[in-house]
Amino acid sequence: MQRALSFNSSPRLGVPLRFLINTPLFVLLAALLLLWAGPSALGSRWTGHALALTHLFTLGVLASAMIGAMMQILPVATGINMLAPRATSIATHLLLTVGTLGLAAGFLTVNPALFQLAILLLGGAFAWLLISGFCGLWRDRRQATKGSTEILVATRLALAALLVTVVMGLLLAASFVWPLPVSRLFTDLHSAWGLLGWVGLLVMGMSYQVIPMFQVTELYPKVLTRWLAIVVFVLLLAFGANLLRDPLGGVEIGYTLAILLLLAYGAYAYATFRLLWNRKRPQADTTTRFWHTAVFCLAACIPVWLAQIIMDADRAVTLGVLFIVGFAWSAVNGMLYKILPFLLWYNAQRDLDVALREVPKVKQILPDDMAARQYWVHLAAVAMLVAASLWPADFTRPAALLLAVSALWLAANMARALLFYRRALKNIACALAVHHGQGVGPHAGSDPS
Ligand code: HEM
Repeated sequence: MQRALSFNSSPRLGVPLRFLINTPLFVLLAALLLLWAGPSALGSRWTGHALALTHLFTLGVLASAMIGAMMQILPVATGINMLAPRATSIATHLLLTVGTLGLAAGFLTVNPALFQLAILLLGGAFAWLLISGFCGLWRDRRQATKGSTEILVATRLALAALLVTVVMGLLLAASFVWPLPVSRLFTDLHSAWGLLGWVGLLVMGMSYQVIPMFQVTELYPKVLTRWLAIVVFVLLLAFGANLLRDPLGGVEIGYTLAILLLLAYGAYAYATFRLLWNRKRPQADTTTRFWHTAVFCLAACIPVWLAQIIMDADRAVTLGVLFIVGFAWSAVNGMLYKILPFLLWYNAQRDLDVALREVPKVKQILPDDMAARQYWVHLAAVAMLVAASLWPADFTRPAALLLAVSALWLAANMARALLFYRRALKNIACALAVHHGQGVGPHAGSDPS
């Protein structure tokens, strides 16, 4: 049984939209940085270029898209609103955008002033977001809609994981300004909570709603939606405790917990693949293909991680590319093609008291064939980036070029949808003027119901 959605609690269009617009722009910025930096950027996870690329993607692209999606889906799917959604959206977007640019520039120049700026702005962005989020979750806890528990559990845990990630990130950034005793151990914890906690849990929580809704599949198995996010969170806590308890020892426990975390995500990947394979609508649309790519890349992290341990090789960059770009960005890119046209359609008719044929259909706003062309470039970019992580000298610049083309294509598709929406609003305003001025103009006598 599909969950009840209350579209009337949908925030104004600008609240999620400004974050969604960030995504292709930051992907383009990351691609141009990779093109400029060349093979050395993917030679090691520790280069300034690699750290800048990691945060242009994790903050500029993923955090932006997820905050936008959360501010849209949370009120509609759970009846829970963040505090002051419009002010929170404007302030968090500005602080996150400039803060991410500051942090990336800090990694490229190792200039302490830029790290100080990033600490201030990113600290402000996430403090505002987390306070608004947790207060909203607490204030509206009694009006959570029926059947939304699973999304809420995963969202609460994802927000908690974001809090841990951000606190460690700010500490790590502070160690680039002041002589703080922060070991690289913290970086592993920071990236584990950031990727397997915040990114992984939020994609999981949102997919529990958007895959059955937009891909017309069955709901996820109840045991999975009830327990998986909690299991992942507890494993991350144990992983952190083990690392802090015995930084140099505890290797066996560390590996066991890491394998359990990978198996948990493997179970999520398998369940998602099964739902998509058995979906009621046989014809795969572009978003289905993006989800297939996302699930495949997530599952591919398991053999790559195991091979790294067995062969004692460093595959951190390949794992980063597979998880951040292959899994998380593919899922977000695919969802943009469902969320954006839906948002524009909903906002075009939300205040209308009559049915007008000037209101465009969702499919007209961003036709699937336009999305399909961008998907194939995205797929080629992901494949080339994985190859570049293994053979940087041969594939880095071709991969960067493909990623840039894919980002530009997505930006062009989103711009076309927004222009189409603006034109539709003009047509609707004309039709409404005629309708309320009954007896004059082409629509006289049209049926208002
Ligand atoms: C307030 C926001 C953040 C700040 C200030 C920040 C800061 C940092 C710093 C300074 C490092 C480098 C540490 C070192 O050189 O040892 C780092 C590494 C890293 N951060 Fe962040 N970070 C933030 C948010 C995030 C988020 C949200 C994610 C993921 C979703 C993330 C993922 C990573 C990863 C994966 C690495 C390790 C890179 C590697 O090992 O290859 N960061 N972060």
